[in-house]
Amino acid sequence: MSKKFGIGIIGCGEISASHYRAYRELADECEIVALSDAVEAAAKRRAQEFGVETVYIDYHDLLADKRVDAVAICTPHYLHAPMTIDAANAGKHVLVEKPMCMNVGEVHEMVHAAKKNGVRLTMSSEQVNPRHRWIREHVLPEIGDISFTFLVDFYYRNIGYYEKARWRGTWDREGGGIFVNQAIYTWDTWQWLMGGVDTAYGYWTNLLHPNIEVEDIGYGLVNFRSGVHGKFFATSICDEPEGTVWMRIAGSKGEIFAVLPWLYTIDFSLNDKTQEEELRDGLENHLAGLQGPGQQNWNDTHDRRVLLQMHDIIQAVKENRDVTISPESCGESMKILNGIHWGGWNHTEAFKKWAYTNFELPPPSRPGALPTVDDARLQNWRGGKLVETLVDLVKDPTPSLAAPFLS
Ligand SMILES: NC(=O)c1ccc[n+]([C@@H]2O[C@H](COP(=O)([O-])OP(=O)(O)OC[C@H]3O[C@@H](n4cnc5c(N)ncnc54)[C@H](O)[C@@H]3O)[C@@H](O)[C@H]2O)c1
Repeated sequence: MSKKFGIGIIGCGEISASHYRAYRELADECEIVALSDAVEAAAKRRAQEFGVETVYIDYHDLLADKRVDAVAICTPHYLHAPMTIDAANAGKHVLVEKPMCMNVGEVHEMVHAAKKNGVRLTMSSEQVNPRHRWIREHVLPEIGDISFTFLVDFYYRNIGYYEKARWRGTWDREGGGIFVNQAIYTWDTWQWLMGGVDTAYGYWTNLLHPNIEVEDIGYGLVNFRSGVHGKFFATSICDEPEGTVWMRIAGSKGEIFAVLPWLYTIDFSLNDKTQEEELRDGLENHLAGLQGPGQQNWNDTHDRRVLLQMHDIIQAVKENRDVTISPESCGESMKILNGIHWGGWNHTEAFKKWAYTNFELPPPSRPGALPTVDDARLQNWRGGKLVETLVDLVKDPTPSLAAPFLS
């Protein structure tokens, strides 16, 4: 491959700018040769910003462009699977934005299309984070037998967030709410650390987002393939309480945990402090010694992620190998999504009634209106006893999931 790797970006909305910044850092090996957006004005605005001459309104025309070797798919969720499959059939390698798609069946179709056409497929994933990779390889085996793990996610999203784009907050185009758009990030990292998902189920409802169809709060149980079970909670109705531990993987000789949102930084502690110090030194040395594009001076994680992953696609093609972050692994979090959506489907009203009957929720700002997250914020309501109760449920290590509204 002597010419530069040609990249086409499909979807010129918010996240496309991150892909542009990332690929600009890889200018020695690739170049963005074409953009596509169904909205001509969006494509043209980005074309000007990114300095790209070729713009297509129909993405099939971008896929027919011979200069394009790989595509970055930055469109709403319902388009991830069909666009990936079309791209693979056109012989293009694919880096698709998270979530990989909307259900497990689509994962299978995407992986099949990539394999059949001999193209590389991966999803924007924190699995590429060098710190996480080192901890998974060197620390995880040292924490002993894992008895339990939990994950909690708080991502406040106001009413306006869902009004920004019509695909958000819908079943058919977003495929869910807080789970599929925000929690999916940490589910991806969590399931990867835990070795993949066997089964999952849970409960959800919509409490304070009357303008959307989908969930804004929920919790569930995951049986991992390793035999360990874990529980999770996620909401968009409030920010995290002070001192939140977002993830804990508890072992007999130590633990891996996260105290920052999105699990951007994970950390560990071991009962044997000498061993902990040795591992800490090992991690620091490893990070300090990293070479190559995207490894130094990156503080925006999304930019770094897609930079490392596009670089990996290019190297994988050159070296005739698979991509480092496999599409199968990226698809695992779909099992959690589908498990909880289907499991909780019939119980959303009971969950909601229980929450309104047993806990003090913020009153609406206008008489007769439904209460919203914006009302909650105005009244400085931070989830109160309701959120405390649900978080306690998921921190309970017993291998079953309580559902107080189903008694
Ligand atoms: N915004 C973020 O911070 C963020 C962060 C990480 C990942 N993501 C993911 O990136 C994806 C896109 O998110 P976004 O925030 O950029 O959305 P967005 O709504 O800002 O942009 C999506 C773009 O896709 C275009 N589009 C729709 N149908 C199309 C079609 N048929 N052909 C070509 N273009 C089409 C839209 O016109 C729009 O410009 C989603 O999967 C999202 O979950 C977003």
